[in-house]
Amino acid sequence: MNETELIELACKGREQAYTPYSGFRVGAALLTRSGTVYLGCNIENASYGPTNCAERTAFFKAVSEGEREFEAIAIVGGPGEGRTGEMCAPCGVCRQVMMEFCDPKTFRIILENGGGKVRTFLLEELLPLGFGPDNLKEAVPADSRK
Ligand code: THU
Repeated sequence: MNETELIELACKGREQAYTPYSGFRVGAALLTRSGTVYLGCNIENASYGPTNCAERTAFFKAVSEGEREFEAIAIVGGPGEGRTGEMCAPCGVCRQVMMEFCDPKTFRIILENGGGKVRTFLLEELLPLGFGPDNLKEAVPADSRK
């Protein structure tokens, strides 16, 4: 699975975006270490707060299917059906969810602007000094972790 293929799958995920309030449609394609890809889209809500971003949709689908090891995520987004040429970087909440399940030194975040421009970041670049499971290693007794 190369970056171009993963971006194409993110565009496919975007087709399902449910965005009656913002009209800002986002798609994500999350690649696991074993090669499976989980798609995600943003899912909005009339009460606004429960809105789920495309990235978290993909992560929660994968984790709920037993996946725990991830390589990369491609993200595409923009207003309306088309794309404006802007990249859609993950929000802070999604970066924190990535921090829970991914190695910040190797997990790649692939962004594409709709015009073929691709930029790839490591999670540690987008979430420097992130707080994650390792920070709680000493705090949580080993036998109560899962
Ligand atoms: N959104 C995402 O799905 N992912 C991002 O990385 C940024 C924002 C969604 C949430 C909301 O449905 C819409 O975009 C506007 O914020």
